[in-house]
Amino acid sequence: MDVEVVLQSVLQQIHPTDEERVFLEGLMDELESIAENTIESMGLDVKPHFVGSLAKDTYLAGDHDVDLFLAFPLDVPLEKLREEGLNLGKAIAEKLDSHEIAYAEHPYVRARYRGVKVDLVPCYDVKSWSDVRTAVDRSVLHNRWILENLQGRNDEVRLLKRFLKGINAYGSEIYIRGFSGYLAEILVIRYGSFIKTLENADFMLKQKIIDPGNWLKREHEMAMKTVRREAEADRPLIVIDPVDPRRNVAANLSWEKYGVFYFKAHKFLENPSEEFFFPGRQKRGNYLSELRRKGTHLVTLVFKKPEMVDDLLLPQLERSARGLEKALSREGFRVLAWNTGYSRGTAFIMLETDSVVRARVKVEPGPEFFTERGQNFYRKNKRVWIVGKRLYAEKNVEQSITEVIEALLRKNQVSTGRGIRESVRGASLLVDYVPKKMEEEAYLLLSRKKWGLKG
Ligand code: UTP
Ligand code: MN
Repeated sequence: MDVEVVLQSVLQQIHPTDEERVFLEGLMDELESIAENTIESMGLDVKPHFVGSLAKDTYLAGDHDVDLFLAFPLDVPLEKLREEGLNLGKAIAEKLDSHEIAYAEHPYVRARYRGVKVDLVPCYDVKSWSDVRTAVDRSVLHNRWILENLQGRNDEVRLLKRFLKGINAYGSEIYIRGFSGYLAEILVIRYGSFIKTLENADFMLKQKIIDPGNWLKREHEMAMKTVRREAEADRPLIVIDPVDPRRNVAANLSWEKYGVFYFKAHKFLENPSEEFFFPGRQKRGNYLSELRRKGTHLVTLVFKKPEMVDDLLLPQLERSARGLEKALSREGFRVLAWNTGYSRGTAFIMLETDSVVRARVKVEPGPEFFTERGQNFYRKNKRVWIVGKRLYAEKNVEQSITEVIEALLRKNQVSTGRGIRESVRGASLLVDYVPKKMEEEAYLLLSRKKWGLKG
């Protein structure tokens, strides 16, 4: 299909209508005066700023959260900013429909007003990066930089964001580790358009460093420090934040998500279609036939989902899966791939393994036979033999993978996520079978469709 036709059709679906714009502009005006009045009545010296994609006009139709930042003067101590910021947020939210307290680096108020989510976030009123004191302070600077540099390419950003969402690579949250909205904006500014960004998918990797703020000239030492640090950490991309030479905008981007973008960008350019932006539901498949076809096995740990936010839970599940993979390989089982997550209140760790039983004995290498330790080893073991100067013995071991996993967990020999250790230890073990609500996840893992690279 012609690429322009595809892009036009996608834009029709993601470009906000005039009606939506008018509604949002009215909403922002209203929020602004509520905020200003509240600030005045509390006698505070605070400036309200709208940030995020709404303020930058890079939001997707129907997908608009208001970020209203409350900027305090730099001479206010951090403790006071936290306290007064929260109080101010609450006072503003009292005049909206409903609210709750949310937690990031510091607490803030998350309200709803006329069906829209409104975050009221206290921050410092910074003029430049050297003033930045908390993680959210940069947002106002980001906003200004994007407004100055985007120059009408807002729809190009919308296309790139929708594309990244469609291929499942959007969002810088710790459990996604994809492209942030701000990174998408910078890429469009750097390469000129959505299509040009896709065309540069491998170039940007080879070139590695994107420096739209010219920091390598303006603050060479500082910028080089960032580059060295991020290169050391083996990031796929180093995008020096145009408003702060100390920060890599792509610091949270994983190789996996970059890889998905890399393949999908090529595929889209070869054969453009709306599917990339709005994928239909994955075709369902049968995980049991996948198991038969491959001759592998599926071992699943299931337990009640701990009461934790995704930001904490999902990375810990992944860490536990990697821990099991390592511990099992020491025990002679190979883990081919794994998948973690939760489904309706039940958390799971799925391991695809090459086998589920091993020999009843294991060879234990011992010391050299003519040493004292060799004498002990000889005495202690029943079946011993010599290879070269070393003694070897046979040791009985658990045969089935479920017994092995249970023993490993009991003896604390698996590194799991801290907060979920007890849950993992109490997990039920399922072999070559999963509950109905996890069948799809099992299929996605075994067929490798979970990664979405092909088809
Ligand atoms: P959002 O994640 O809400 O991004 O962060 P966004 O640009 O508004 O995009 P969407 O449309 O909601 O998805 C709001 C601001 O927080 C900063 C940026 O300044 C961004 O504009 N931010 C957020 C980062 O700098 N890096 C991040 O990884 C996330
Ligand atoms: Mn946003």
